[in-house]
Amino acid sequence: MMDWTDTHCRVFHRLLAPHARLYTEMVHANAVILGDRSRLLAMDPGEHPVALQLGGSEPELLGQAARIGAEHGFDEINLNCGCPSDRVQAGRFGACLMREPALVAESVAAMVARCDVPVTVKCRLGVDDDHEWERFVAFIDTVAQAGCRMFVVHARNAWLQGLSPKENREVPPLRYDWAYRLKLERPQLQVIVNGGIATQEEATAHLAHTDGAMLGRAAYHDPYLLHRLDVAWFGGELRSRGELLRALRPYVESQLESGVYLKHITRHLLGLFAGERGGRAFRQVLSEGAHKPGADWSLVEQALAVTESFAGERADAA
Ligand SMILES: Cc1cc2nc3c(=O)[nH]c(=O)nc-3n(C[C@H](O)[C@H](O)[C@H](O)COP(=O)(O)O)c2cc1C
Repeated sequence: MMDWTDTHCRVFHRLLAPHARLYTEMVHANAVILGDRSRLLAMDPGEHPVALQLGGSEPELLGQAARIGAEHGFDEINLNCGCPSDRVQAGRFGACLMREPALVAESVAAMVARCDVPVTVKCRLGVDDDHEWERFVAFIDTVAQAGCRMFVVHARNAWLQGLSPKENREVPPLRYDWAYRLKLERPQLQVIVNGGIATQEEATAHLAHTDGAMLGRAAYHDPYLLHRLDVAWFGGELRSRGELLRALRPYVESQLESGVYLKHITRHLLGLFAGERGGRAFRQVLSEGAHKPGADWSLVEQALAVTESFAGERADAA
C-alpha cells in the first residue's frame, strides 16, 4: 500500500505474522528500471515471503521490471489492476486495465518470460457500472492463459469517474460472492479475497470459499490482528504486544545506526495497541517524541511503559 507498506512496515508485520505473504507499495515499472533501486526496492532479508507490486501497462517494461524484482529477491511479482487514482488512469494502468484484458495478458506473459517467480494480478470486479460476470471471468481467463495462477480480488468495482481513491475503497459495494464463485468455477486458480475485511472472524470465514484473505487497512491500523490471525491459522503461542514489539529492537537499532530516523519506523507501530487501554498514550508518546533529534529505542520503551502502566497486565493480554 502506497506510503504504508515500506520495508520498515513489512519487517514489523513479519514479526507479528510469520506466515503471511507481504506486499510492497506499488512501484511503477519505469521507476524500477530507471529509478533509485536501493530505495524503491529496499527489502530486509527477514521479510520473506514478500511480493513486489508493479504498476504499468507496457509489456516490455513490465517484463524488465519483473526480472529486476526477482533478481532483487522478491518471491512474487504482482501486477496492479485495481488502483483507480486519476494519476494512474492518466498513465493507463491500475484499474482501467480491467478493460484491456489482452494487454494485461501480454504484460503477464512478458513478466512470466523474464522471471522465475510467480506472477500474480490484483484486480477489481470491473470498472464503473460494468457488473457483468461474463466480462469479469473473461478477464481472469485471458490473464490466466498468459501464466497467472493467482488473483487477488478486491471484491468491488472501481468507479473511475467522480470518486477519490479513498471513496473507491468504500463506496462501490462489496460483492464477495464473485470471488467465491470464481474459486468455485476456476478451482485450478488461487483466489485471494480482499476488501473491507476487518476482524479475525471475517477473515476466517472467507477461507471456507477462497484460498486466502488479504487485509489492507485493518492490518495497518490494528497490526496485532495479523498476529492473532497467524496464530489462529498456523498455530503457535499468542505473544503479547509488548513482547512482539521488543523483538523489533535489534532491527530498529541497526537502522538507527545506518542513519534512518526513528520516526520512519515508529509511524508504522502506532496502531499496535489499537482498542486497548493505554493505546492512545502509546501513540502519543511515539508521535510526540520520534521526530526529536537523537530519538532512539528508549522512546519505544517509554511508550511501552506508559501504556503498560495504564493497562496493567491487560495491555499485554490478548
Ligand atoms: C493508503 C493506501 C494505499 C494503498 N496502496 C495500494 C497499492 O499500492 N496497491 C494496491 O494494490 N492497493 C493499494 N491500496 C488498496 C488496498 O490494497 C486494498 O485493496 C483496499 O484498501 C481494500 O482492502 P482493505 O479494506 O483490507 O483495506 C491502498 C490502500 C490504502 C488505504
